[in-house]
Amino acid sequence: MTSQVPVLHKEKILDFKNALDIVKSEYSERDGIDVQTLLDSKNNGGLTYNDFLVLPGYIGFSANEVTLDSPVTKRISLKTPLLSSPMDTVTEHNMAIHMALLGGLGVIHHNCSADEQAEMVRKVKRYENGFILDPVVISPQTTVGEAIALKEKLGFGGFPVTESGKLRSKLLGIITPRDIQFHDNLNDTVDKVMSTELVTAKSGIELTEANAILQKSKKGKLPIVDDNGNLISLVSRSDLMKNLNYPLASKLSESKQLIAAAAIGTRPDDKARLQKLVDAGLDVVILDSSQGNSMYQIEMIKYIKQTHPALDVIGGNVVTREQAAGLIAAGVDGLRIGMGSGSACITQEVMAVGRPQAASVHSVTSFAARFGVPCIADGGIQNVGHIVKGLALGASTVMMGGLLAGTTESPGESYVSREGQLVKAYRGMGSIDAMEDKKAGVGSANPNDPKASNAGTARYFSEGDRLLVAQGVSGSVLDRGSVTKFVPYLISGVQHSLQDIGVKSLTALRQGVIDGEVRFELRTVSAQAEGNVHGLHSFDKKLYA
Ligand code: IMP
Repeated sequence: MTSQVPVLHKEKILDFKNALDIVKSEYSERDGIDVQTLLDSKNNGGLTYNDFLVLPGYIGFSANEVTLDSPVTKRISLKTPLLSSPMDTVTEHNMAIHMALLGGLGVIHHNCSADEQAEMVRKVKRYENGFILDPVVISPQTTVGEAIALKEKLGFGGFPVTESGKLRSKLLGIITPRDIQFHDNLNDTVDKVMSTELVTAKSGIELTEANAILQKSKKGKLPIVDDNGNLISLVSRSDLMKNLNYPLASKLSESKQLIAAAAIGTRPDDKARLQKLVDAGLDVVILDSSQGNSMYQIEMIKYIKQTHPALDVIGGNVVTREQAAGLIAAGVDGLRIGMGSGSACITQEVMAVGRPQAASVHSVTSFAARFGVPCIADGGIQNVGHIVKGLALGASTVMMGGLLAGTTESPGESYVSREGQLVKAYRGMGSIDAMEDKKAGVGSANPNDPKASNAGTARYFSEGDRLLVAQGVSGSVLDRGSVTKFVPYLISGVQHSLQDIGVKSLTALRQGVIDGEVRFELRTVSAQAEGNVHGLHSFDKKLYA
């Protein structure tokens, strides 16, 4: 029996071998729509990420060949186009260090004193993978009893002993658990029992070399000392296996240090804060404002360009071409896009001002690209697909708050919610909680607080305000484990997505969108429902393994 293919029109069936030629020669346009038609706000309204999809292209390479290098400022390019937001539940030094190790960038928040923020910048700049830069150090006068108590409290028992009991002081010996465990007299001082036959290495040594010495020495710790024998850092045998390689790490060329970024406000006090950050080694400053197109920010950009020419300045936030133009003219090296799209944000509801994120990203990036200014799509990223869409619309990098707040590297501890889930606190910087918080006694954004200008939350109120009007909420997000697993998942997801689109790099993606080769499709509400899990009685959404 021969099967009959239903003929949809009267033409005769064509030779299948000609399909590729025919799709090219007989159809003037590729299937789907180009980016301009997609983002045509007169016909489609202001779109955001869930309102559209990217159409697939041709896969001619494997996903791990896809490269994601992309600029974050005019001068600095990253290997991973991901940034963590300057929020006090997202980015302090630990997040900044790990984002930079993974090829992205963590922007240190400013809801703390200038000195605390500068110390965090310093920690990022001093960080060397595998070297413990702030080891617990004891003095020769510490008693055996105190050392045992310290061991029990910290869960490890090898302590270097220095003259002053601090780092950067002469190394005298090392106490190991064995030295103190069975020592009878707990009142004896550690200088009586410490090992003084030390194997040390000189500061500046590479980690691989340090590891080799450690292996050979059969000791648990390798103290790193300067030319005068002062303790600088420590390499620990128990960390050997954990000393992962970070080939994507964000570093300036010819520097071994990680790139450090931090946020400041645009008030007069912020100039003094900035000086402290620069002294600590800051590379990139973000001017943190929910509506960046202001005389304060423009004045600040000009001031920074004049006084700190080596520093890269990212301005924002902006959502329109006109806003962007003011900041570009003032000399910004990068822009941050988004108003009201953040997951903990109620700006659009309260202020009636803002813009859907896809519309903002397309509008600002297509303008800023003409001046060579890279843009960050900030806020509203809930999954890998949103990252890809932000990048497809012209952003060079994306910034995340809520998505990273649940990781081990964000500030604070996880806790069990009332529903029995492991969660971590996450709050908008414009939430009443954050604005009232007197972190370390100086970070208050309360307008009645004389130190209010030190606050990272200053972006959400004006001088002289008598009342705090919330633009954000305070809540929690699910625990996500370490960014050292989560960010590689995001990277790998983006690589697979670009493979589906048929582009081998972010540059190719951008070019494909500009040329109209990369195509899009609008998504109706029912298409959105279809594109999500549906019809299942129950399911477990495990994202990576
Ligand atoms: P998320 O990744 O969707 O959670 O958004 C993070 C972004 O939200 C941040 O980078 C800020 O631009 C923005 N944001 C942070 N706090 C607030 C707030 O209280 N109100 C409005 N937007 C906020």
